[in-house]
Amino acid sequence: MQSAIRTEELTKDYAVGFWRKRPHRALDRLSIDVAPGEVFGFLGPNGAGKTTTLKLLMQLIFPTSGRAEILGQPVGAVAVRRRLGYLPENPYFYDYLTAEELLGYFASLFGYVGPERRRRVSMLLDRVGIGAERRMQLRKFSKGMLQRVGIAQALINDPEVVFLDEPMSGLDPVGRREVRALMLELRDRGTTLFFSSHILADAEALCSRVAILAGGRLTAIGQLSELLAFEIRGWELVVADLRPELIDRLGDVVRHHAEIAPGRYALELTLAEPPERLLAEVLGAGARLVALNPLRDTLEDVFMKHVAEASSHRMTTE
Ligand SMILES: Nc1ncnc2c1ncn2[C@@H]1O[C@H](COP(=O)(O)OP(=O)(O)OP(=O)(O)O)[C@@H](O)[C@H]1O
Ligand SMILES: [Mg+2]
Repeated sequence: MQSAIRTEELTKDYAVGFWRKRPHRALDRLSIDVAPGEVFGFLGPNGAGKTTTLKLLMQLIFPTSGRAEILGQPVGAVAVRRRLGYLPENPYFYDYLTAEELLGYFASLFGYVGPERRRRVSMLLDRVGIGAERRMQLRKFSKGMLQRVGIAQALINDPEVVFLDEPMSGLDPVGRREVRALMLELRDRGTTLFFSSHILADAEALCSRVAILAGGRLTAIGQLSELLAFEIRGWELVVADLRPELIDRLGDVVRHHAEIAPGRYALELTLAEPPERLLAEVLGAGARLVALNPLRDTLEDVFMKHVAEASSHRMTTE
């Protein structure tokens, strides 16, 4: 099947420094493939190269090497551009236009006229939750409201592939929930969504797949369930009627312990050995088993681990 978005060894060096320019690699040989209809989360800490990638895909900047395709065509193909939507990282609009005028302007660029244009603008403003404020000049808008106008702008042409750079930034929890719902609605209609974020909860709620970028390099890619599932980092054993002096005798395999009620303990076990031996020992000493659960990484743990690895790798190679 044809990819919605495909990059092959996409690389970007910026020239930095005032007198003596030297290259700074912001993106290093990124190869990814996003299928039509996917909601793809592009995650990474500040400076990872997310915005750089989106700008390359939008042809706002040009790659040092490598290539990118959208809907089977090289980026920049005019026929494809009409089928894309883009929310920049810090959308900037003409301050003295109202939200309605601004969207009307973008709608007219895509050939909407007359009542159809008005209907389209009004429907999109409704969808992003801008009410009577739509008749106010944008300079009076809060950051969150501008972000919503930006999202409406990205959807004006009913795009097949939508690129959103930090769509949740500047939004309060209610706004985030609304944008999330909007993104799910788009997904259900078959739109491909590619969005950058460092808000991991949003990625967990929305994405079919994520990529983790750190220091310009791809450090992990896959379905969230895969990324999270194989990273078991230990066991949580909950037992009742445990005598506390026994805990010390169990040794290093117990990473942490906490008394959660009198005589009832939660023990966090490392992966150093299977939990059965320890369980037998604890039960043999008269305790009762309450629960034994695998401890899995959260997306936050996976993210932090990959980011830490990438920065230690950079330190050793620089
Ligand atoms: N125009 C530029 N000139 C020089 N360096 C740049 C330029 N734009 C970005 N960079 C550098 O490229 C790297 C990647 O930046 P980018 O903006 O893509 O990161 P990001 O992942 O979007 O970060 P954030 O989460 O802060 O938005 C950073 O080290 C940044 O300083
Ligand atoms: Mg950015």
